[in-house]
Amino acid sequence: MKHLIIINGPNLNLLGKREPAIYGSETFEDYLQKLKSKYNDLQIDYYQSNVEGELIDKLQEVGFTYDGIILNAAAYTHTSVGIGDAVKAIDTSVVEVHISNTFSREEFRHQSFISPNANGVILGFGLKSYDLAIESFID
Ligand code: DQA
Repeated sequence: MKHLIIINGPNLNLLGKREPAIYGSETFEDYLQKLKSKYNDLQIDYYQSNVEGELIDKLQEVGFTYDGIILNAAAYTHTSVGIGDAVKAIDTSVVEVHISNTFSREEFRHQSFISPNANGVILGFGLKSYDLAIESFID
């Protein structure tokens, strides 16, 4: 059984309440339950933190043993050399995900420190972006 983890960065714990016109009205916990039953032949772990160093710690912890990482570093995508370096340092494949189409938003969201070191990037499909990232790990 493949072992994947979804790692979400800052403010994504507020999904459902946060700017629903952009991020939708579903909580991540509700969505995660649906994902787990849709992909019940995969083990899908979940981690969320608002703290940059905690996200780096988690990437290091899982990044040599898991089969895949689905990373939405949220705002840190656009600022964090440290998270970009962590993605580069680990062995496990990372797919970068964003709920919104960051390229149709403010210019500061067009820059990503994750993308150069990620295996792929999926963005703009709402929460379905996570489904599509999971699909990329299925043979
Ligand atoms: C986001 C896009 C980021 O620009 C933003 O800071 C987020 C969420 C997305 O999933 O669309 O917090 O990563």
